[in-house]
Amino acid sequence: MEERKYFIKTYGCQMNERDTEIMGGQLDQLGFQATDRDNQADLIIINTCAVRGSAEQHAFGYIGQLKQLKDQHPHVKLAVAGCMAQEPGTIAWIKRYAPHVDLVFGTHNLHQLPKLLEEAEEREETLIDVWKTAGDVVEHLPSHRNDGVRAFVNIIYGCDKFCTYCIVPFTRGKERSRALAPIVAEVRALAQEGYQDITVLGQNVNSYGHDLDPQVDLADLLRSLEPIEGVRWLRYTTSHPRDFSQHLIDSIAASQKITHHVHLPVQSGSNAILKKMNRKYTQEYYMDLINRVKLAIDDVSLTTDIIVGFPGETESDFEDTLELMRKVRYDAAFTFIYSPREGTPAARWEGRDPVPDPIKKDRLNRLMELQYQISLEANQQLVGRTEVVLIEGLSRKDPNVWAGRTQSNKVVLVNRDSAVDLIDRFIPVRIEKAKTFYLGARQIGDPLSGPAPRRRVELPLL
Ligand code: 5AD
Ligand code: SF4
Repeated sequence: MEERKYFIKTYGCQMNERDTEIMGGQLDQLGFQATDRDNQADLIIINTCAVRGSAEQHAFGYIGQLKQLKDQHPHVKLAVAGCMAQEPGTIAWIKRYAPHVDLVFGTHNLHQLPKLLEEAEEREETLIDVWKTAGDVVEHLPSHRNDGVRAFVNIIYGCDKFCTYCIVPFTRGKERSRALAPIVAEVRALAQEGYQDITVLGQNVNSYGHDLDPQVDLADLLRSLEPIEGVRWLRYTTSHPRDFSQHLIDSIAASQKITHHVHLPVQSGSNAILKKMNRKYTQEYYMDLINRVKLAIDDVSLTTDIIVGFPGETESDFEDTLELMRKVRYDAAFTFIYSPREGTPAARWEGRDPVPDPIKKDRLNRLMELQYQISLEANQQLVGRTEVVLIEGLSRKDPNVWAGRTQSNKVVLVNRDSAVDLIDRFIPVRIEKAKTFYLGARQIGDPLSGPAPRRRVELPLL
């Protein structure tokens, strides 16, 4: 029999990307083959994101669009997974508008994919199997790694913070840390495979280990990963300012491998809004933390997430955010318009006290304009400097240019001067050009010595 093929469409954050790899690993074991075309697949999984309305609309649109494919090829199985599947509204929508979906499962039972597929096979109507709460952490799941240069490793699942705008604590459940030993074993295995750039993942990595016995923290974990031979860069995401300890700052400063990139989502610069968001810190606390980070960590690159138009946000609240941005001088910021999420406290306030849409858009534009100017100036400071870049692929726009990143996570385009394949190699470069979103550079030496490159990357960066 011809091999069955699967295609997974992934929306959302790196945790979702990682879940896709775990689903892919299970499908590989069942004898499926991966394809990057939905119209060639026998199984299509839509791994959804619920963090903002726009991500949901895209997923709904795609699910609707697949009806035609399913009509033409009735043997194709369609599954909806991920954060949206955890929401009752999505289930109701699928029942009503998308009966062509064969299977719906959530974030807590994706390790049961083979069993779910088997059960769905035997049914006429949509099989819906979504767990309300998470079970124990499941270890030893297979992976189909989708990135040939960087590897991602879960360390903590769920979130206990309950920021009032955020759906994640509802879709991903309570915090559960993985034990230290299996994480170390996974990173060691990845290093043996040749991965040198490792990112540990969680919704709030800074609370890693509080639920383990004996208790450990993120700094302890990173310290256990540091001696692993072959790992050159260690990253972690995403952080919560409240839990970002001095112990961690000192560990980063002392480490040879933990990168000098700190992503610290601030969300707002206004104390009134931070309080309503339940962020559990003030603007003063956050600035003190930033100053301690800048003082301890050389040439630190700082990035953040910011939401504008939270219910009740006044012009003066927004100006506090602009002011904070000017003070911190982030290297980059991910900026979002507040999106009401059903079931969260802020969604109820949005009904009573919304910021009008044109004002939301205007604030987003002003915020982005300021950040772009700061990003460009920060990048201009790097011109003339020597950096090491890990090459990830060729530039999408120009096959004569390599694309990679510095340890501080800046995207760098490097002139391709020879026929030598540099993918998965660390290259010394001189920065020659600064743009808002990337740097331009020239190679100034041979690749650093290290393990043989792994495999080619199929997804170029820029
Ligand atoms: N509306 C807009 N942005 C949101 N985020 C989380 N929830 C919402 C929401 N309801 C943003 C936050 C978070 C990032 C991943 O997404 O800034 O840090
Ligand atoms: Fe959402 Fe807040 Fe948890 Fe981040 S810390 S996942 S924004 S609830």
